Amino acid sequence: MTTEARRFVVAVTGASGALYAVRLIKAGLEMGCEMHLVASDYGKRLLIEECGLNLKTTSIGNWLDERYPPAERPGEVIQHSIHDLGDTLASGSVSWDGMAVIPCSMKTLSGIANGFSSNLIERCADVTLKENRRLVLVPRETPLNRIHIDNMSRAANAGAHICPAMPAFYTAPKSFEDLADFIAGRVFSLLGVRHDLIEPWRG
Ligand SMILES: Cc1cc2nc3c(=O)[nH]c(=O)nc-3n(C[C@H](O)[C@H](O)[C@H](O)COP(=O)(O)O)c2cc1C
Repeated sequence: MTTEARRFVVAVTGASGALYAVRLIKAGLEMGCEMHLVASDYGKRLLIEECGLNLKTTSIGNWLDERYPPAERPGEVIQHSIHDLGDTLASGSVSWDGMAVIPCSMKTLSGIANGFSSNLIERCADVTLKENRRLVLVPRETPLNRIHIDNMSRAANAGAHICPAMPAFYTAPKSFEDLADFIAGRVFSLLGVRHDLIEPWRG
C-alpha cells in the first residue's frame, strides 16, 4: 500500500455492516494513517453483535492483532466520544483529511443531510463539509424509502460522496473480509488514498 501518513475520521453507526469499518481502520493502520474513531451507541452494539468487538473492554488495535495476526500496523487509532460536542473533531480549526461514515444508518444520514449536528458524528460531518474536506457516506438499508433517497440526494448536493454498501461479486470474494475490503477500497479511493484493497479490473 502506498500513501503518505494521513488523518481520517471513521464514524461507525448502527447500520448493519460493522465489518466495513473494521476493515477500513485495519487498512488505514497498515498504511500508517491516524484513524479517529467515533462510534454511536448503536454502532458499538453492531460492532459487538457482528464482529465480537466490544470497545468498552478492548481497543480495536488489540482486537485486530488477535483477529488478523501478524501484521505491521504503524498507524494509530484515537477513539472519541460521540456525546462530547466539545471534542477536537467538533471544530474546523483542527485539520483532518477526510471522514467516512461507515456504515451509515438512515438516522445519521438524515442528521447529516439536514445539518442537525446533534452529536459528534453529525457535527464532524457538518464541519467536514463546511471546510470543503472529503466526506464519504456508506449508507446501508434496503429497500430504500423516498425519505432515504431524498436525504442521500441532499447530502450529495452538499458535497458528500455517497458510496452505498454494495460490494461487487465479480472479484470472486471468498470471505466476508473480501466483501468488506471492496467497500473499504472504494472509500479510500474517494478519500484520495491509493491502496491495493481491490484488484484493478483488467477487462
Ligand atoms: C441489529 C440492528 C441492525 C440495524 N440495521 C440497520 C441498517 O442496516 N440500516 C439502518 O439505517 N438502521 C439499522 N438499524 C437501526 C439503527 O440502529 C437505529 O435507527 C439507530 O437509531 C441508529 O442510530 P445511529 O445512527 O446513531 O447509530 C439497526 C438496528 C439494529 C439493532
